[in-house]
Amino acid sequence: MISEMTDDFKWGISTSAYQIEGGYQEDGKGQSIWDVFTENKDNIVDGSDGKVACNHYELYKDDIDLIANLGIKYYRFSIAWTRIFPNNSYEINEKGIEFYIDLIKYMIQKGIEPLVCLHHWDLPYYLYEQGGWLNRECVEAFEKYAETVFIRLGKYVKHWTTFNQPYSIAYGGYVTGKRAPGKQDIPSAFKVIHNVLLAHGKAVGKFRELNIEGKIGIILNLMPVHCLSEEDEDVRQLEDEFRNKWFLDAVFMGTYPKMSRTFLEKEYNMDFNELMQAEDMKVISERLDFIGVNYYTRKIVRYNEECLFNVEYIDGSNDSTDDFREIYPNGLKEALGFIRKYDPQLDIYITENGADYRGDKVEDILNDEKRIEFLDCHFNTIKELIHDGFPIKGYYLWTLFDNFEWENGYVGKYGIVYVNRDTQERIVKNSGKWYTGYINENKRFW
Ligand code: NOJ
Repeated sequence: MISEMTDDFKWGISTSAYQIEGGYQEDGKGQSIWDVFTENKDNIVDGSDGKVACNHYELYKDDIDLIANLGIKYYRFSIAWTRIFPNNSYEINEKGIEFYIDLIKYMIQKGIEPLVCLHHWDLPYYLYEQGGWLNRECVEAFEKYAETVFIRLGKYVKHWTTFNQPYSIAYGGYVTGKRAPGKQDIPSAFKVIHNVLLAHGKAVGKFRELNIEGKIGIILNLMPVHCLSEEDEDVRQLEDEFRNKWFLDAVFMGTYPKMSRTFLEKEYNMDFNELMQAEDMKVISERLDFIGVNYYTRKIVRYNEECLFNVEYIDGSNDSTDDFREIYPNGLKEALGFIRKYDPQLDIYITENGADYRGDKVEDILNDEKRIEFLDCHFNTIKELIHDGFPIKGYYLWTLFDNFEWENGYVGKYGIVYVNRDTQERIVKNSGKWYTGYINENKRFW
């Protein structure tokens, strides 16, 4: 029952489980690190959590109808690992599987093609208690989870991704500590990245071994790094390696970049030989069928010895969104340029792009002309890139709803649909209506 593929450019929309589902204990769901992290109200700007979120767990049919009515035919969402394996008995929770089967069947019935992400940050808490991504056993647990999901959902889904933004799992969770599990320890961050990438590679290997009909990739957030003066070039390069090259070298070439690796060995006594086992990098660089790129902005850096890694972030000269991200569509050219260097033929999906615009009154939130401008200028860039021969196959806007925006709680607003937090009423914003029109006029995009 795989849905029809067309030659059209895939105009889609993106969400993630913890940010919209709610139903935090429904039908046997277990706790994730985000359920626990949000128990400390100080971790989130408005003290909120994802217990109810957009109540998508109950309202999923209405939500799929809404997507269909918006004329969107491609939907990226993630599966909550804690619904499938709620506790460390590793017994499958059938109700959890059923939820996703129902969701997927319903969207296919409505003419919407799923793109599934296996992991969007909501690690089961029992795994975290055993060390989480610092423990290689977590890699095995992920492989088992991935295998289960491939076997049970493989007949409905054609496009799979393993992880969403491995960089952020490590950076938010183990460098700044602003995101779950809230740690601050550089060597741990790099161990986490290694094990996450290993888990990615193992899942891809399993996918191939099971001969699942479909394609699989990973989602990376790529962010060009600039500096204003030549003296800052070294820190620029280091930042670029940490954000981009670390992941690209690993998944495409099975290596980690030398400069940053040496830096970590010297400054943090990291022992990569101990961390990396013989076949790891081969596993990590398993062939991909496509790559997902999340693009939001660039970073501008300068040398400052008071800052972590001597890197200070400075503001760019363009306008910013309400979460202080500089609007810089050209950076997408650079980001995709990175991929071209490794594999110019590989299919690319923009798996996230969007803007946080807030507003005090509902009326202001709904009249989100700035979001329209943001999207429009990014779409122009994508058009140029396609004309330059970049194999971009689709675009998944971030995001459908104003939802639980991690440490920014419900204060952050990325949706093209407003959600009334008391009644759960959904109201399409101007940007949503605009996106519908844009899709209709640009079905092919070349
Ligand atoms: C990237 C993340 O994947 C997503 O969960 C988040 O909400 C958006 N960026 C916006 O910050």
